[in-house]
Amino acid sequence: MTQMNLLLISGSLRGGSYNRKLVIEAAGFFDGNPVMADLDLPLYNGDVEDRTGVPAKVQLLRDQIAAADAVAISTPEYNQSLSDVLKNALDWVSRVDGNPWADKPVAIMSAAAGRSGGARAQYALRLSLNPFQPRLLTGPEVMIARPDGEFDAKGQLTGELYRDALSALMAKLKAETSCVALMAA
Ligand SMILES: Cc1cc2nc3c(=O)[nH]c(=O)nc-3n(C[C@H](O)[C@H](O)[C@H](O)COP(=O)(O)O)c2cc1C
Repeated sequence: MTQMNLLLISGSLRGGSYNRKLVIEAAGFFDGNPVMADLDLPLYNGDVEDRTGVPAKVQLLRDQIAAADAVAISTPEYNQSLSDVLKNALDWVSRVDGNPWADKPVAIMSAAAGRSGGARAQYALRLSLNPFQPRLLTGPEVMIARPDGEFDAKGQLTGELYRDALSALMAKLKAETSCVALMAA
């Protein structure tokens, strides 16, 4: 197979976002062609959709998901759930005809300030992805707790246990992606 396209999705828009750093680190373990998605979208509003249709940035995101061989998503935890930015993007994309997530290999991860590292956000994200029936990996779970102490000045994840878990998760994503490609051949 030629180089696999990996779409990276960070559920945080913040410049110094740890989830953005995490998903970039994940790409380093995947050895493919990474593309970072832009989730800076307007809030979903049915009136806007009726008047002007789906925004061009939503269509682009939908097309990037469809074109990706695999997707890696990292979500922060906001009040025990996934981020509003990420849920908004999932909702917008669901308004475009055709389901780009169907059978798409997807790995999820999180970085959050609390001790559980975003565990509850990941469960909420699983529920939010279920309607689209991706091939959502069950683990290993990568949940970076108190991420301000876990990344160095270059944005690299430093802890060996976290790096091992992320490496294992991305190896699984690569294997799943190869299986899907073989079945399609
Ligand atoms: C509105 C809000 C709610 C939050 N709720 C939680 C929470 O429930 N659990 C948690 O671990 N961290 C919570 N946090 C902290 C974030 O997880 C933390 O700031 C994280 O680093 C944000 O992700 P980012 O670095 O990618 O922007 C919350 C932060 C905000 C702004």
